[in-house]
Amino acid sequence: MSRRTSPFSRRTDWPRQTNRITCVHEELKEQNIEIIDLTVSNPTRCGLAAPPEFLDALRDPAGLEYTADAHGLLCAREAVAGLFARRGLTVDPRDLFLTASTSEAYGFVFRLLADPGDTILFPTPSYPLFHFLGEINDVELGFYPLTYRDGWRIDMEGLVEALHPRVKALVTVNPNNPTGSYLSEEERRHLNKIAAERGMALISDEVFYEFPLGDAPGASLAGNAPALTFTLGGLSKYLGLPQMKLAWILVNGPEHLAAEARQRLEIIADTYLSVNTPVQCALPAWLSQADTVQAPILRRVRNNWEHLNREAAGLRGTQVLRAEGGWYAVLRVAPVRNEEEWVLKLLSKYHVFVHPGFFYDFEDGPCLVVSLLVPPDDFREGIGRVLSRVEQQSGS
Ligand SMILES: Cc1ncc(COP(=O)(O)O)c(C=O)c1O
Repeated sequence: MSRRTSPFSRRTDWPRQTNRITCVHEELKEQNIEIIDLTVSNPTRCGLAAPPEFLDALRDPAGLEYTADAHGLLCAREAVAGLFARRGLTVDPRDLFLTASTSEAYGFVFRLLADPGDTILFPTPSYPLFHFLGEINDVELGFYPLTYRDGWRIDMEGLVEALHPRVKALVTVNPNNPTGSYLSEEERRHLNKIAAERGMALISDEVFYEFPLGDAPGASLAGNAPALTFTLGGLSKYLGLPQMKLAWILVNGPEHLAAEARQRLEIIADTYLSVNTPVQCALPAWLSQADTVQAPILRRVRNNWEHLNREAAGLRGTQVLRAEGGWYAVLRVAPVRNEEEWVLKLLSKYHVFVHPGFFYDFEDGPCLVVSLLVPPDDFREGIGRVLSRVEQQSGS
């Protein structure tokens, strides 16, 4: 008798039940109830799409020619090097690899660094997609804590506890999604020391780097010399163009390691050659107009952030956690109910949708996460509803 086996891999056996929050959200939408969505963070749906003239750059006839280059076309990499030059950093285009997305860039770097069973450390709380990106690439996920005092910082003791011989790399999200914390100079030094001592790589996701909520961003790992370092960025945030599917990996570190990494990455990238040519040809023109898109995004997130802080000041029940950059804000609310109950209450009774902290693995709750990209009128109305309901229900 033949034994029946599943044709599917264990790594893709994810639980797929719809959670309660999504069910309630769907039901309300079916009833045509208008919901203020404070979670939208797709710039093309928030009135922050690039101007239509951006499409002109896609008409370059060079886009009709195909040249296979594992790194991506030189003209596009030179344009990416130019954006680092704006930060005052000289980047050699040979240290750059283009990918179709930052998610794909993570996949390439994980494949480069980790064998099945090796661990990569991720910050917590952070970006929920890491669970999937790790599992799809056969990476064991380890976590190091960020803790909040009057700002979010890496808990260095917790980080050291998370280290073990099979940790191959550490991911930092700079600034982090959704806590909005940049790396400090001191944290950068600590990470470099640990990574160099242990022969471990650093992966710095800097997709939100250009969006400080204050005057200046924090420390960057682009150009980092003491440890093998991969700095990731991409158009989905840099120019608010997620649909154009272009991102980059910058490789730095001690030259013998960086050279080996480049050669191995060349083979990974050459296997896919996943970035399309018209977008690469359009990149120099787009990046030369970065301010056209970045300035309105920055204005939006800063105005919403200021509004939120102004409105929450002095109100009972809500603490806006300090953030330094990025597109999100975290509200710690009165512990009169748990995060799921808060989100369901706000959604079903007050028709405003926020994310619960547990989507991002927050531990000190209850926390609610909102996007700062939400159009101003919706943001004001939605935040008004959240703050007043929380104050009302958090007692005296
Ligand atoms: C921290 C972080 N990294 C990466 C990404 C994904 O970027 P991409 O669209 O380039 O895959 C996101 C998307 O929200 C993100 O928040």
